[in-house]
Amino acid sequence: MQVPFLDLKAQYNSIKNEVNEAIQEVLDNTAYILGNSVKNFEKEFARAHDVKHCVGLSSGTDGNHLALWALGLKPGDEVIIPANTFIATAWGATLCGAKPVFVDCDPESYNIDPNKVEAAITSRTKAIVAVHLYGQPADMDPLREISKAKNIHLVEDCAQSHLAEYKGKKTGGLSEAASFSFYPGKNLGAYGEAGAICTNDDELADYFLKLREHGQSKKYYHQTYGHNYRMEGIQGAVLGVKLKYLSHWTEGRRNVAKKYREHLGNFDKIKLPTEMSYAKHVYHLYVIQVQPTLDVKKNSEVRDKLKDYLQEKGIATGLHYPVPLHLQECFRDLGYKEGDFPETEKLAFTGLSLPMFPELTDEQIKYVADSIKEFFLKN
Ligand SMILES: Cc1ncc(COP(=O)(O)O)c(C=O)c1O
Repeated sequence: MQVPFLDLKAQYNSIKNEVNEAIQEVLDNTAYILGNSVKNFEKEFARAHDVKHCVGLSSGTDGNHLALWALGLKPGDEVIIPANTFIATAWGATLCGAKPVFVDCDPESYNIDPNKVEAAITSRTKAIVAVHLYGQPADMDPLREISKAKNIHLVEDCAQSHLAEYKGKKTGGLSEAASFSFYPGKNLGAYGEAGAICTNDDELADYFLKLREHGQSKKYYHQTYGHNYRMEGIQGAVLGVKLKYLSHWTEGRRNVAKKYREHLGNFDKIKLPTEMSYAKHVYHLYVIQVQPTLDVKKNSEVRDKLKDYLQEKGIATGLHYPVPLHLQECFRDLGYKEGDFPETEKLAFTGLSLPMFPELTDEQIKYVADSIKEFFLKN
């Protein structure tokens, strides 16, 4: 049996006519950049996330940059970022000339550990980026308390958390500004590069609109510095169609997670993801940890063997992320070393992302679970 990591073709086939029509409309209107398709999508996306404003962008990375740029981050400033995230979270800081300061993740949520944030704060700290990684919301209340007490900005990276909830509230409206990615493989994916930034702050929303379009509010009149971070019309059209199915697809992902738990919940060679009591997890990724022994290095070897074994059985898996940010070559000058963030390293060395997409069948899920059990019987 073949089990892909995700299946964008199956999803496209299920909405083909609607998507094709929406794209055709953009082609007919020649509204290739921004335009009505983007405007309508922004409105609907903001509504779906209970947030006042959504500004469509060219990528989630651009959203990470815009959030900190608009909040005035500059060279010499420091930004607190989880060590366990995709590198684009850190680009938000570096593109402002600011320095990323990494913090380890919580061993259960896999998100930034709020108890470790204060120790990373210095007089230069200007912002904290909460990433809702793998689709699980970060623990926002303690982060909000720290940000208030220390007068530090708090923003969200929601690239993996469309429709996820923290204490009943959607991610994307839980801080000053929240970036989203619509990279094709995301829970809500475009057919190219796309992203957005959301906020409840009217002034900030206005500023985002200017910054994404060369610092202008009227064509050729540039009040501030800016950039070209506009969303394309075709992406707005595709996203507008797909947004209507997002909650259905999200429930599909949650159902896949439930089934994995039914099959693997009592299997002690691996640790399954925990849905925190405050969270509605949207399972962008389903990351298990291989832990037959207490030795991370040994488990890492087992993880790699398991990955190869599953590959041979036709099951595609992923690593998120094999090299934690503090050990990336590009951040060598920051002076971190192996051992600095043990929980993040544990995920990098022993984590394995199983196939996760709403169209996975019960047979495929069972086959993945059985193959994992079979591997440990043989090894
Ligand atoms: C956590 C996180 N932040 C930021 C990004 C960047 O998004 P994009 O690829 O749309 O630039 C991604 C996705 O790739 C991500 O997973």
